[in-house]
Amino acid sequence: MRFSTSLVAASVASVAWAIPTPASPTATDAADVYAAQATALTESPTSHVKGKVFDRYVSIWFENTDYDMAAADPNFAFFAKKGITLSNLCAVTHPSEPNYMAAVGGDYFGLNSDPFTQVPENVSSVVDLLEDKGITWGLYQEDMPYTGFEGFSWVNQKTGANDYVRKHNPEILYNSVVTKPHRASLIKNLTEFHKDLKANKLPQWLFITPNMTSDGHDTSVTVAGQWLKTFLTPLLKDKNFLQNTLVLLTFDENETYTIQNKVFSVLLGDAVPEYLVGTTDDSYYNHYSEIATVEANWNLHTLGRYDVGANVFSNVGRSTGDQIRTFGPEFSSYYYNFSYPGIFNALGGSYWSPQPVPDVYSTCNERSILPSIKETWEKDADQTVYTGSLVVPDGYHIPVYPKGK
Ligand SMILES: *[C@@H]1O[C@H](CO)[C@@H](O)[C@H](O)[C@H]1NC(C)=O
Ligand SMILES: *[C@@H]1O[C@H](CO)[C@@H](O)[C@H](O)[C@H]1NC(C)=O
Ligand SMILES: *[C@@H]1O[C@H](CO)[C@@H](O)[C@H](O)[C@H]1NC(C)=O
Ligand SMILES: *[C@@H]1O[C@H](CO)[C@@H](O)[C@H](O)[C@H]1NC(C)=O
Ligand SMILES: *[C@@H]1O[C@H](CO)[C@@H](O)[C@H](O)[C@H]1NC(C)=O
Repeated sequence: MRFSTSLVAASVASVAWAIPTPASPTATDAADVYAAQATALTESPTSHVKGKVFDRYVSIWFENTDYDMAAADPNFAFFAKKGITLSNLCAVTHPSEPNYMAAVGGDYFGLNSDPFTQVPENVSSVVDLLEDKGITWGLYQEDMPYTGFEGFSWVNQKTGANDYVRKHNPEILYNSVVTKPHRASLIKNLTEFHKDLKANKLPQWLFITPNMTSDGHDTSVTVAGQWLKTFLTPLLKDKNFLQNTLVLLTFDENETYTIQNKVFSVLLGDAVPEYLVGTTDDSYYNHYSEIATVEANWNLHTLGRYDVGANVFSNVGRSTGDQIRTFGPEFSSYYYNFSYPGIFNALGGSYWSPQPVPDVYSTCNERSILPSIKETWEKDADQTVYTGSLVVPDGYHIPVYPKGK
């Protein structure tokens, strides 16, 4: 969340040429946005691929709230009683954007601020894994002005208040997604969510981001909790939503930078069995667990990044045979409040490091890397940074996972 000093203006000035050029999808001025709105391609494909534990996965992300604050909010507490509280899920760094990036791509590539970022096209994300198995996906971003919009932000046109921001839209950051019109057509707003719900055309994997008011970013956890109550209560009675559905409620990051970056998270929905309702799971998870859990459920390939070593949520791991790793007391001294070096690290100098090569050989509970990722990166396989011995991911060093796990 904290605004970066290196904001890169994404707007493209529109010039009145005789032959009008189509508005750039990154343009943020109202005229270009309205022009693009009129022609944006929106699609809603459906699929019914059975998972081992759930058949639909929905994550809803809120903003910048310390664990205790969220747990104390009456609305978040209400939904926690309907599911499993994850009392030890850590964000991967600060601020927002790298956490969203990590949750779908298995790394944040050193990003330590919230600029206009484009992940190179040769980096895959979870949607490559889902499409490989014919599983439909969609992102629903409240107040995104049109489907596939790539602009930096969009404000409420009446009040000027922040509405939609690119940094909270994980898949739009990936060029492997936005360069394919079919994929961009699946990154929609919440108006489209309600249409898809009504038509029983929701996909099987969904990522939902409320606007900057609703997610607590510009407001408080109280406002976020009220939004959640209004949004989720009817869905938990809706057969078009509940189709053996697992819902994750989580926050991108903790607000206080000097304490461990733990975020309040809850799993609920009709895929959570009765005996787990109202329980707490204190296993160590992070935002990479969100990819690992989806991989385990549908037996997907992996990205060969931090998804491979991340703990699968135990309500799922129990059925898929994924072992949940435990860590000793040293774990409590890792704060996850600082980004390691990488291609996007704004500090530069010794904080720059090359684009990391996925580990093309390690497997996770027999799940291997997606063949197309292997093909792209195999020639550089010896340069991978993602391999090593079993250590606690400490958030300062590029973490490693157990080779051959
Ligand atoms: C952030 O995480 C810490 C430690 O994991 C947790 O105790 C805390 O409740 C969260 N927020 C605050 C204010 O400490
Ligand atoms: C949502 O997206 C649709 C499709 O691009 C667009 O027509 C509509 O105006 C958008 N709604 C809002 C509230 O921005
Ligand atoms: C954000 O969404 C809420 C409803 O969910 C809406 O009332 C509000 O106008 C939207 N935008 C802003 C800037 O508050
Ligand atoms: C991370 O937390 C530790 C422990 O409180 C603190 O010493 C350090 O300054 C924090 N780092 C940042 C970048 O905030
Ligand atoms: C991936 O893309 C980056 C940026 O375009 C390029 O520097 C790198 O060589 C590419 N690597 C592979 C293995 O394709």
